[in-house]
Amino acid sequence: MGVSGSIAAYKTPELARLLVRAGAEVRAVTTAAARQFVTPMTLQAVTGHEVREALFDRAHEAAMGHIELARWAERILIAPASAGFIERLAQGRADDLLSTLCLASDAPRLLAPAMNRRMWADEAVRDNVARLRARGVRILGPASGSLACGDEGPGRMLEPEELVEALAEDFAPPSWRGRRVLITAGPTHEAIDPVRYIANRSSGRMGFAIAEAVRQRGGEVTLVAGPVTLDTPVGVTRVDVESARQMYEAVMSRARQQDVFIATAAVADYRPLRVARQKIKKTEGDLSLELTANPDILRAVAGLPDGPFTLGFAAETTRLEAHAREKLRAKRLDAIAANQVGGERGGFACDENALTVIWPGGRCDLPMQSKQRLAYRLLDVLEPLLNEKDSTETA
Ligand code: C5P
Repeated sequence: MGVSGSIAAYKTPELARLLVRAGAEVRAVTTAAARQFVTPMTLQAVTGHEVREALFDRAHEAAMGHIELARWAERILIAPASAGFIERLAQGRADDLLSTLCLASDAPRLLAPAMNRRMWADEAVRDNVARLRARGVRILGPASGSLACGDEGPGRMLEPEELVEALAEDFAPPSWRGRRVLITAGPTHEAIDPVRYIANRSSGRMGFAIAEAVRQRGGEVTLVAGPVTLDTPVGVTRVDVESARQMYEAVMSRARQQDVFIATAAVADYRPLRVARQKIKKTEGDLSLELTANPDILRAVAGLPDGPFTLGFAAETTRLEAHAREKLRAKRLDAIAANQVGGERGGFACDENALTVIWPGGRCDLPMQSKQRLAYRLLDVLEPLLNEKDSTETA
């Protein structure tokens, strides 16, 4: 467990305690800045081992050298990961014990960023995080909420319980290995003229979280994404599209080779019948746009003979379950995940969501939680349904 200099470091004794309780052996390494926020004595008490900070420490090196420590670890969890530490890691610096350990180890690295929301939004930080992600470092969070500095927004370190869960997930058996999974995510843009389009508030976060979770469990993922500003999860094949018709083409040319199709995209139901070639000029009067229906991608995939297992999403503002059941039946889906949108919390364009999963033989409520966690819980619900489908097909 690497602890760098952020106020969230005060939560690390609790994190270490939970990890030890879950059966892990924990060695804590702090940066110099981390010691401003958490005392080595506290971390030592909960891990049962001396806490290390210095690279050149003769006594420690004699007991367990830093290379040995790097080899010993099966995972390196940096929590909290400060903007400064993320920068050092992205640069491949080896100027203190923790950064050196990260370079010297073969173990998968997991980072739980924690910082002010403006720092998290800064382009330099975004670049560093994207570079680390591309190198296979897993980024856990951050969550949105009230920050120690009084701001509100993304930048909070995930809670210790969530980090323990993420680590457990990292050690879990690859239960989706051998499954090919096609996922749609994000909104679509339907052109009105060269500069304008019709869109919706979907961020794509739920679909990207599911893509990452399936990959994490060993599945082979193709992610067809509408216009979103999200990093591609490592190991996922991404196909970018803009309009519903492009999404339809991208999906239908691949759907037959898939075992599972998960439609999280908020596909525009209609598009302008005619796309103006030039920018439409403002006139005195009102303007009417004539709309025509887009193809229903999910319905088309569910209608394929020998097609994949299909999971649809139903975002509703009223009578959630009734509408979802109706969609399950009308589109002939294997399952549907219903979520309430338009309320105060959850749903579109935010970090949290709650889902009710319904299939012909049952239902399951997944309470409000981060979309990352929710993605794993959704896979837990789908696994027995997929196994059931596999066994009826081979029977
Ligand atoms: O009928 P409705 O649009 O509410 O259904 C939502 C579900 O259908 C979502 O899973 C969405 O991804 C999918 N869908 C689709 N193609 C459309 C419209 C919706 O795949 N044109």
